[in-house]
Amino acid sequence: QSNAMWGGRFAAGPDAIMEAINASIGFDRRLARQDIEGSRAHAAMLAETGILSSKDAEAIREGLLTVLSEIEGGTFAFSTALEDIHMNVEARLKEIIGEPAGRLHTGRSRNDQVATDFKLWVRDQIDAAVAGLEALIRALLAQAEAGAEWVMPGFTHLQTAQPVTWGHHMMAYVEMFGRDMSRFADARARMNECPLGAAALAGTSFPIDRHATAQALGFDRPAANSLDAVSDRDFALEFLSAASICAMHLSRFAEELVIWSSAQFRFVTLSDRFSTGSSIMPQKKNPDAAELIRAKIGRIFGANVALMTVMKGLPLAYSKDMQEDKEQVFDAADNLMLALAAMEGMVRDMTANRAALEAAAASGFSTATDLADWLVRALGLPFREAHHVTGALVALAEQKGCDLPGLSLSEMQQVHSDIREDVFSVLGVHNSVASRVSYGGTAPTQVRAQIGRWKDRLG
Ligand code: ARG
Repeated sequence: QSNAMWGGRFAAGPDAIMEAINASIGFDRRLARQDIEGSRAHAAMLAETGILSSKDAEAIREGLLTVLSEIEGGTFAFSTALEDIHMNVEARLKEIIGEPAGRLHTGRSRNDQVATDFKLWVRDQIDAAVAGLEALIRALLAQAEAGAEWVMPGFTHLQTAQPVTWGHHMMAYVEMFGRDMSRFADARARMNECPLGAAALAGTSFPIDRHATAQALGFDRPAANSLDAVSDRDFALEFLSAASICAMHLSRFAEELVIWSSAQFRFVTLSDRFSTGSSIMPQKKNPDAAELIRAKIGRIFGANVALMTVMKGLPLAYSKDMQEDKEQVFDAADNLMLALAAMEGMVRDMTANRAALEAAAASGFSTATDLADWLVRALGLPFREAHHVTGALVALAEQKGCDLPGLSLSEMQQVHSDIREDVFSVLGVHNSVASRVSYGGTAPTQVRAQIGRWKDRLG
C-alpha cells in the first residue's frame, strides 16, 4: 500500500528497513506542541489572506487543539509508518475534521515546517538555560556574600599561589556563568527569524503573509531567503556551542568541588541531599552529582561535533541528513538543564569550612609575594632582587619546617640585613587579601563591589 501523503507516483509501499531508517517519530514527537502552534498560526494566516475560507481555517485550528490534547493526555497513537510528527499530526487531524485537513499544507512544506518547529523548541531551551544560569548565579552570590572576607588559598598549577577570598572565588564563576548567559541571549537574538512560508525551498506562489506568521510565533521577522531558511541549522549549532562552553564551566567547577570535598582538602561539605554513599565503605560520602556534571561535557560537546559533522558539506537546500539534528540537541539540552539544576542545588546546600580554608591559606608560603613587594616598597630593592631574597627566605623556612611568619627577625636578617620588624605586618593572609584593592582584586571591599554590581544587574 503506497503512502497517503505522496502515494500518487508510488506503486509500492516502503520496505520495513526503509521505514525504520526513515522514521523520526520516535524522537521528534517532542516537537508536537511547536508543530501545532506553527500550524495554527499558518492556518490563521491562510484565512487572513483569503487563501482558505475562515470556516476551514477554524475547523483546522480547533482540530489541532484536539490533537494536542490527545498527545499531551497520552492517548495519541503515534505511527512509524507516518514517519514524523508533522505527518502524524496531519493524519490525525484528517480523521477528526475530514477534508479541510488536506488544505492546511497549502503554501508550506515540511522543510519550512520542521525548521520552524525546531527553532521554537531551541528558543524555549535557550530561555530555560538562561533561567537555570540565573538561579545558579544567585546561589553563588549568596555563597560569595556569606564568605566575602574568608581567606582561602588561590592556586596556579594547583600549587599554592596567593591567598584569595572565598567570595572572590565564587564571583569568578559568576562572571563565567554570566558570559554563558549572554552567549545564549546573543544566539536567541540572531536566531529569531521565522522560516515558515519558505516552503520547500523557493517560496510559494500563494499570496501568503510571512510577516503575520512570524509575528504570531514571536519571531522578530521572517527569514529573508527561502533557501537559507530551510537549510539553516546554525541556530541549533549556536545553542550547542553555547551549551558546550557552559558545560565546560560547570565541569571545571564540579572538578573543584570534587577536590574541595575530599578528606585531604575539606574546604567544603556537600549536603546529604547532593551526595551518595558506598555499599561497602561505611564512611563514604561521595560527590557523585559533581562527578556527573563533570562528565556531562562529553555528551554535550559530542552533540556539537556530531551536528557540525552532519551539516558540513551538505548542498543547499534540505537533505534528509538534517533530520539527524534533533536527537543531538534534545540530549544536550536535557543534560545541560539537569547539570545546571544539580549545580545550583549543590551550591545552595554546601557549607564552606572557614577554618579549613584559612588554615590552608596560611600554608605553602602563600604570602611570599607580599614579602617581596614589602622589600621593594620598604627597602627600595629592585623587584628581581626582592624575588631572590624572598626565595632564600622561603628556602630557610622550608629547612626549619615553619611558615614565613615562623622565622625570627634575626633569621631574616641573616638573609638580608636591612629587614625590619614591620615586615611581619605583611606576612598574614588577612593583610594580604585586604591589600589587593585594585579593581577586580580579591580584597573584601572589591568582592563586595562585584557582588553589588551583579545584584543590580539581576535586579
Ligand atoms: N522528518 C523530517 C526532518 O526531521 C521533516 C522534513 C522532511 N522533509 C523532506 N523533504 N523529506 O527533517
